[in-house]
Amino acid sequence: MQTVQLGATDLNVSRIAFGCWQLSPAFWGDIPLSPWEEAVRAAADLGVNFIDTADAYGNGYAETALGEVFQRHRLRDRFVLATKFYWRIEANGERFPDTTYAYIRRACEASLKRLRTDRIDLYQIHAFDPLTRPDEVACALTELRREGKIRWVGVSNLNAEQMRMYGRHFDIACLQPPYSLLNRKIEADELPYCLSRRIGVIAYSPLFRGLLAGRYDRSTTFSDRRAELPEFTGERFGRILDALDRLRPLAAGHGLTVAQLAIRWVLTHPALTAAIVGVKQREHIEGIVAAADAPLPHDDWHRVARELDAAAR
Ligand SMILES: NC(=O)c1ccc[n+]([C@@H]2O[C@H](COP(=O)([O-])OP(=O)(O)OC[C@H]3O[C@@H](n4cnc5c(N)ncnc54)[C@H](OP(=O)(O)O)[C@@H]3O)[C@@H](O)[C@H]2O)c1
Repeated sequence: MQTVQLGATDLNVSRIAFGCWQLSPAFWGDIPLSPWEEAVRAAADLGVNFIDTADAYGNGYAETALGEVFQRHRLRDRFVLATKFYWRIEANGERFPDTTYAYIRRACEASLKRLRTDRIDLYQIHAFDPLTRPDEVACALTELRREGKIRWVGVSNLNAEQMRMYGRHFDIACLQPPYSLLNRKIEADELPYCLSRRIGVIAYSPLFRGLLAGRYDRSTTFSDRRAELPEFTGERFGRILDALDRLRPLAAGHGLTVAQLAIRWVLTHPALTAAIVGVKQREHIEGIVAAADAPLPHDDWHRVARELDAAAR
């Protein structure tokens, strides 16, 4: 699998990243661990060297599971490891945004311990915290970098103005935004901002939580929290599925499945470094890697976008 430089860093990452949010029972329900463990091993064998998690996924559960898999199979050094901080979780389960100096230091130590590692390659702010001054955030992150506990700093879910503000205080290696055929909001401001400043972009939910994989039909129902999302029910759900059906010949013409077409569409944007695909089992990662082999021709990129834009209205 092709690797590319992440922004202006010294990290080389595969264009498909392995996403660990699926180990978040509050959203996805209980995902069996043994197929997931097999998927992590398969990813390494396929040349996927980039893995994304967060302390908030399952309130530490995803990091703990990943740390165990790293140790059991000696896999830590096969991956560029990305995790996130932001949510302080209280004993009663309540969550608060927290990017204060003291909390970042504490959160990082806890993540290192759960992940059974001595360094995090990419430490990301999960979302924007309006209540903590950026110089305080920078102070903690700079110290952690100096101590070798984190290598690079990324941000997630920030707009261009918020990145501009943080960027005055510390180097931003990359942005982790939602980006897919059903969510193109970042095309106007954030993607040009990142492209012009050599900030990497690693897109999350590139399959729109599975919907763009072309494997559901009108009778599909969801037992997880996707049942609450408007795209996954009713008229709009049907229109999106019909649009995906119309795209099957175009996908096949490129030797791709619809899921691969959706990921190739994301990766074709010149600002994009990688797409983070949410994985529950090895078929998910095996079935997607071919998407990264080449870009889509520009005319097809626009054809595909038009089809989904119309369906999602
Ligand atoms: N920074 C943030 O705020 C944030 C937010 C969300 C996610 N993320 C990150 O981004 C990752 C991916 O996002 P995501 O999980 O929302 O969405 P996604 O990658 O768009 O969708 C994942 C779902 O797609 C289906 N799928 C995956 N591979 C497939 C394949 N090859 N063929 C067919 N279906 C496939 C699976 O669902 P089914 O098996 O149910 O069909 C899977 O659970 C997460 O794991 C996490 O690391 C970050």
